[in-house]
Amino acid sequence: MSKKVTKIGVLTSGGDSPGMNAAIRAVVRTGLYNGLEVYGIIRGYNGMIEDDIFKMDSRSVANIIQRGGTILKTARSKEFFDHEGRKKAYANLVKRGINGLVVIGGNGSFTGALKLSQEFDLPCVGLPGTIDKDLYGTDFTIGFDTAVNTAIEAIDKIRDTADAHDRLFIVEVMGRHAGYIALHAGIATGAENILIPEEDTSVEEMLAGLSEKEKRKKLVNLVIVAEGHSSGGANQIAEIVKQQLPNLDTRVTILGHIQRGGSPTCIDRLIASRMGYHAVESLMEGRHNVMVGIQDNTMKYTPLEIAIREKQRVGDEWLKIVKILAS
Ligand code: F6P
Repeated sequence: MSKKVTKIGVLTSGGDSPGMNAAIRAVVRTGLYNGLEVYGIIRGYNGMIEDDIFKMDSRSVANIIQRGGTILKTARSKEFFDHEGRKKAYANLVKRGINGLVVIGGNGSFTGALKLSQEFDLPCVGLPGTIDKDLYGTDFTIGFDTAVNTAIEAIDKIRDTADAHDRLFIVEVMGRHAGYIALHAGIATGAENILIPEEDTSVEEMLAGLSEKEKRKKLVNLVIVAEGHSSGGANQIAEIVKQQLPNLDTRVTILGHIQRGGSPTCIDRLIASRMGYHAVESLMEGRHNVMVGIQDNTMKYTPLEIAIREKQRVGDEWLKIVKILAS
């Protein structure tokens, strides 16, 4: 029989993502509704180590559902990698009687949560908060939809100027080792080529396509490349294109951190609210050390070690669609 959770901590960790605030709000208000005490931990695991922890009430999360970033701030904590750091952090939870934890973040953040749960028997639940959508066990991660929409808006604008000048634009998007932002934004903007780590399309293949399109005077070209693609990114690809196809007027845009900010979309607000609610329910019902996800519109609970270890596969159907639609 697992211990009853009565006081919970909530933190955001790793790269921020739009919708994290909506998730915090859902965790706090669901916790309070169920008579739990809820504590906010500032700057992720760093704040846990430094005892930067405060008691939250319903008003602490007022007027934040629409805001990007995270009111709890975030960090990637080096000290937490060591057992000594985690021991110090756990002592600060014990001091307040915190006996359950909600971690909103990605892979690295869940690794920290797993260690805490294994070393100190602390019930933890993870919420997938990352723009990269690189976590196994969920169709959505909080922030992905907003990041893709931000990328789409920017790429549509780039297409206007590409069209005006008959230029080739190579646009690099984020995603760390995953290509989902590139794939979704590329399909939605009608990009001619999408280069993602999951399907290592070779640069030679891309060059052959560009050269064929050049011959038939198809001059507006958009190549979307995920930062994790084996080529090294947009600048490296542009160098090769300039050498091999000097007739093309080639430009590079790296979208960068703009993809992490901004007001969350409706989808991100909804999934964050739903996942936040279920995170607290999970802790109360004894479903511990899992990541709360949504698959086929149903809540899915994946053990943290599996969410960390397994990869999310890119569907073959999408890869086929990309090839057919970009011709
Ligand atoms: O994981 C989110 C993410 O934005 C990745 O897409 C990117 O590779 C990384 O974080 C950038 O990290 P930082 O903000 O530390 O430069």
